[in-house]
Amino acid sequence: MLVTDDIKSLFQLRPQADAIPIDVVLTEQLESWLDKLTVFQRRQLQAQNFRAESGELVVLVDINGHAAHVCVGAGKQEDFWSAGAWVRQLPAGVYCLNHVQQDFIFHYALAWGLGAYIFSRYKKSSKVSGAKLMLPCQLDYKALFTLIASIYWVRDLINTPAEDMMPQHLFTEAKTLAKQHKASCKAIVGDKLLGKNYPAVHAVGRGSHQSPHLIDLQWGNSNHPKLTLVGKGVCYDTGGLNLKLGTGMLTMKKDMGGAAHALALAHLVMSHKLPVRLRVLIPAVENAISDHAYRPGDVIQTRAGLSVEVGNTDAEGRLILADALTEAESEDPDLMIDFATLTGAQRIAFGGSLPAFFTGNDKIMTDLIRYASSSHDPAWPMPLFQPYDHYLDSHIADLSNISTKSAHGGAIVAALFLGRFVQDKTRWIHFDFSAWNEQALPGRPVGGEAMALRLMFAYLEGRYSS
Ligand code: BES
Ligand code: ZN
Ligand code: ZN
Repeated sequence: MLVTDDIKSLFQLRPQADAIPIDVVLTEQLESWLDKLTVFQRRQLQAQNFRAESGELVVLVDINGHAAHVCVGAGKQEDFWSAGAWVRQLPAGVYCLNHVQQDFIFHYALAWGLGAYIFSRYKKSSKVSGAKLMLPCQLDYKALFTLIASIYWVRDLINTPAEDMMPQHLFTEAKTLAKQHKASCKAIVGDKLLGKNYPAVHAVGRGSHQSPHLIDLQWGNSNHPKLTLVGKGVCYDTGGLNLKLGTGMLTMKKDMGGAAHALALAHLVMSHKLPVRLRVLIPAVENAISDHAYRPGDVIQTRAGLSVEVGNTDAEGRLILADALTEAESEDPDLMIDFATLTGAQRIAFGGSLPAFFTGNDKIMTDLIRYASSSHDPAWPMPLFQPYDHYLDSHIADLSNISTKSAHGGAIVAALFLGRFVQDKTRWIHFDFSAWNEQALPGRPVGGEAMALRLMFAYLEGRYSS
């Protein structure tokens, strides 16, 4: 999560008079904009058939043949994400943004930085060309770099295959984070989870030769309001004995995406020294098959004292989160937020790029809608629809981990399950999301992705900054 030289090298902080300007041109402005150019420049654009359509990029040269101006098409609407493509297309050099609104420059710079991301742990691929974006001196470059580093970290954690990102590896990552911020970090591991009363985390994780962990990071002044982040850390989700099909299992290294988000958000909170007492709880397990694995039809205990009939071992995330949420709530925090790649149903309802959040607090709901818009980091509410609560009824236990009555509304039913372990739902936000880009877009390569991270940091900054 450190700001690396690779990130810094994408930007130029010192003002440089001969930086090559980038003009972002809307189709409707094309004619008036062309009028301001020299004949030589217009000819070059004509020769390249520049129409100012989205995705077009033309480098104009001076009479010596040196790059002198960059023209990019914006189509009907300006989109800062396009800078994620420029950083890969432009030759080495220092560039600056022309005629871009001040408050958009941060986002263009963010997209520029995110577009340069490469997951290089196993494949040494060539780096980006060496194009640098010059930042205006008033831009908070430290905040920018920290944000880019946090998102790179989320992507790296998710993209790393399960074999190298098991519970103990997540614990190492959390300890490294704690060290950087002088936070404490401990874990309850393996059979100790039973003695410390995390029976659901143990039940889900016991089938794997990789010990389940309950990771617990704490930071900040105990007089400040308590903020607790919980992340689903299923390092691999085979589905358990209710084994997934190959296609569904293929991307399940990402099932610790919630944990990655909780850690990265914690990094942002601590880097910006928000006045909170922060706690991060990560139940980390592998949902594996073996003769030790928990079974469909088993009744397991939870930290809250509720018994749960296992209708499906593939609905494992809610079980481990139940224990973590019980512990989180025992301290009566001001706010608790959980992040989880919880259901396929959420993806079916919203598609892969739009996270869903649930909360029992209408003010938080409207605030998050507003912050999602202002931070350009989308998310949308789903309801904690109480009439479905009885779907979780079980004949032999306090509740079932799946709906016993309907195959529909799976994301809501999962959220209602979690809600059974949260007494005060007005202080709780639950995120269900995919944490994965299915298709490459500028600034957003295929693979692990931070979603709603910027949104939630903006919200927390607004809520807690004095
Ligand atoms: N990790 C999956 C959910 C998931 C699937 C997230 C695909 C993103 C993409 C979760 O553990 C799961 O398997 N959920 C089941 C629950 C069902 C058995 C009630 C699901 O959604 O099918
Ligand atoms: Zn599952
Ligand atoms: Zn899962």
